[in-house]
Amino acid sequence: MQPLSVTLGDRSYPIHIGVGLLDDAQRYAPYVASRSVAVVTNKIVASLYLERVQRALEQAGARVVPVLIEDGERAKAWGTLDRVIDALLAARCGRDSLILALGGGVVGDLAGFAAAVFQRGIGFIQVPTTLLAQVDSSVGGKTAINHVRGKNMVGAFHQPLAVIADVATLDTLPDRELRAGIAEVIKHGFVLDPQFVDWLEANIGKLLARDRTALSHAVRRSCELKAQVVAADERETGLRAILNFGHTFGHAIEAGLGYGEWLHGEAVAAGMVMAAELSVRTGTLRREDADRVAALIAHAGLPVRGPKLPIEQYLELMQVDKKVSGGRLRFILLEGLGRATLRGDLDPRLVRESIAAAVQ
Ligand code: NAD
Ligand code: GLY
Repeated sequence: MQPLSVTLGDRSYPIHIGVGLLDDAQRYAPYVASRSVAVVTNKIVASLYLERVQRALEQAGARVVPVLIEDGERAKAWGTLDRVIDALLAARCGRDSLILALGGGVVGDLAGFAAAVFQRGIGFIQVPTTLLAQVDSSVGGKTAINHVRGKNMVGAFHQPLAVIADVATLDTLPDRELRAGIAEVIKHGFVLDPQFVDWLEANIGKLLARDRTALSHAVRRSCELKAQVVAADERETGLRAILNFGHTFGHAIEAGLGYGEWLHGEAVAAGMVMAAELSVRTGTLRREDADRVAALIAHAGLPVRGPKLPIEQYLELMQVDKKVSGGRLRFILLEGLGRATLRGDLDPRLVRESIAAAVQ
C-alpha cells in the first residue's frame, strides 16, 4: 500500500501502514544504514517485538542499542528521560544516531522528546504498536513528558522521519487498550469526516473483532485526517486544537482519578459525550447528533459517563489545559457531525450543566 505523507516542506515524512512491516529491513534502510539506532521500548513490547525489529534493523545495516523503560504513564517523567539520555551516551550515540520508538503513546512521547533534546535534537522513527499510537500519537510531532502538576506539561514539537505502523501488532493488544484506541479513531470522524462516522457506525463490530481490513482502513483514514490538520497547523495556533475534542473534560477525568485509573481513550470517550452535551446546550449541535455521538461511543464499549467527581473539581482540573487562554477555558464544540470549532466565550453555567448531564 502507498504510504501517506505528512506534508511539512523539508520535514515531510511518510506514514507506512500495513501488515508485516515490522520485519521489513528495506522499510528501515533509508534512515538507519550505517547508523546507531537506539530502540526505546518497554518490557512488555520488547518481549513481543524487539527481537524482530532488531533483526530487521541489523539487516538494514544499523548498530542497535536497545533501551528499555518502565511500562505505563508514569514512565513519561524526567527520571526516565534522564535514563534514556544516559543510555545513549553510554552507548556512544551521537548527533548522527537515531532513536526508534517501539511501543504505544507513552514510549512514543517519551522517546520523541528524548530525540528532540538529545544533543539539541536527533532524528527519530515512530513504530507504534497500540491502536491509539497508530491513529494519533505517532503522527504530528507532539512529544512530551508529564509534570507532577499536569500531563504533557514539558515537551517539544519534533516531527519523526517516518512512521511505520504494522497493524498486525494490534493482535496482541489487550481489549481495553484496543477500545481506548477506537476512541481516538471515532474522535477523528466526529471532528472532521461525517462519512467516516457513518463507516464507523456500520463497522464498529469489525474493529472490536480486530478484522485487519477494517483496522487498516480505520488507521489509514485517521492518519489521513490527522496529517491534513498537522500540515495546515503544525504548532496548534488554531485548527489543530480541534483534535482535542473531548480532551479538556478527559484530562480532568484522568487527573481527578489519578493517571492510569481510566485509560486516556476512556477518559476522552466520556469527555466527548460532555463536549457534545455542551455543543447542544450552546446551540451548535442537534440533540439527535449528540445521541449519535453517545451511541457510537457506547457501541465501542467505552464509557459515556464520567466518574462522579464534584463538578467544582472537574472545573478546577480543567484549568490545567494547554487550551486555556487569558485564564479562560476554551472548548472544542461540534457544529454537526464532522465539523468542529474552538470556542472560548461560553457561559460557565452551561459547562457545569454539561458535566452534570454526563457523570455517573
Ligand atoms: P501505552 O503506551 O501505555 O500502551 C498501552 C499498553 O499497551 C502498555 O501497557 C503497553 O506496554 C502495551 N502495549 C503496547 N503495544 C502493545 C502490543 N502490540 N501488544 C500488547 N501490549 C502492547 O498507551 P497508549 O494508549 O498507546 O498511549 C497513551 C499515551 O499517548 C498517553 O501518554 C497520551 O498522553 C499520549 N498521547 C500522545 C499524543 C500525541 O499527539 N503525542 C496523542 C494522544 C495520546
Ligand atoms: N492528539 C492531538 C494532536 O496531536 O494535536
